[in-house]
Amino acid sequence: MKIPIIMDCDPGHDDAIALILAHASEKLDIRAITTIAGNQTVEKTTLNALKIMTFLGSEIPVAMGCAKPLFRELITASEVHGETGLDGPVLPEPSYEKSDLHAVELMAETVRNSSEKITIVPTGALTNVALFLTSYPQLKENIQQISLMGGACWGGNWTPAAEFNILVDPEAAKIVFESGIPIIMSGLDVTHKALIKDVDRERFRSSGTKAGIMVAELLDFFAKFHDDNFDFGGSPLHDPCAVAWLIEPELFTSKLCHADIETKGKLTLGNTVVDVYEVLKKEKNITLLYDIDREGFVDLLAAHLEKLP
Ligand code: RIB
Ligand code: CA
Repeated sequence: MKIPIIMDCDPGHDDAIALILAHASEKLDIRAITTIAGNQTVEKTTLNALKIMTFLGSEIPVAMGCAKPLFRELITASEVHGETGLDGPVLPEPSYEKSDLHAVELMAETVRNSSEKITIVPTGALTNVALFLTSYPQLKENIQQISLMGGACWGGNWTPAAEFNILVDPEAAKIVFESGIPIIMSGLDVTHKALIKDVDRERFRSSGTKAGIMVAELLDFFAKFHDDNFDFGGSPLHDPCAVAWLIEPELFTSKLCHADIETKGKLTLGNTVVDVYEVLKKEKNITLLYDIDREGFVDLLAAHLEKLP
């Protein structure tokens, strides 16, 4: 039985690869795509989502979400993803229009009309998901789990204490982490180990499929920021981790933990405070992913790209 999912994303190069991976997986059924502001403005992330789905030959509904966080001004990441939010490869113009519904409404309609519980896969700020959960509390019981990219047990990538997705909207993240819905957290602890090296990029490019070439070209651009600013020896492929866990959870090492979000800190705003040593003895609301079989992850991506045209 396929896992029905809603992708809530801010494409964004790694979001785009997460969409491609989810689309290629026989285990997943993308019921809807919702977009959020983050890597770029929500107009740009929506256009990018439509372009990626057009490239894949799909017309899965795409609904535009919130243009800014619940209480704060928007921060974007053009230094990582470029002015379009998906600089680098040439993408087709969309073959279809975005939904007339707001992202929160499409989430509600999708969940309401599903006979199976839905998994939400957020790979951007959590504003849409927080609004959905607070606007439709009666639909929470129809949500199986939330497999998200965000946060970190240790450190941050946008400040020393915060990962970008959580920092964009800490209050929204707090609502989601306190929702009682099981959360699988692909934070920087695991995504900084999900490194795509140059040799992996060339493997995708030589896969002989348009999708393999597209992913290689997305990674060509994505690598620039990471090669210039970090010495990881590759690009951390953040968002596809949240999808890969649904497809092959055995690739990951995880631990049930309690986590909460810092919404007041001057230096620590947006920190995911993960109680790894269980000192608080609080309810364990997240499955923290903290290690990955990197080779297996690359093999998974390559195998899925080879299945696409
Ligand atoms: O911190 C990495 C996250 O921020 C990824 O989701 C990336 O796409 C950006 O949204
Ligand atoms: Ca993202």
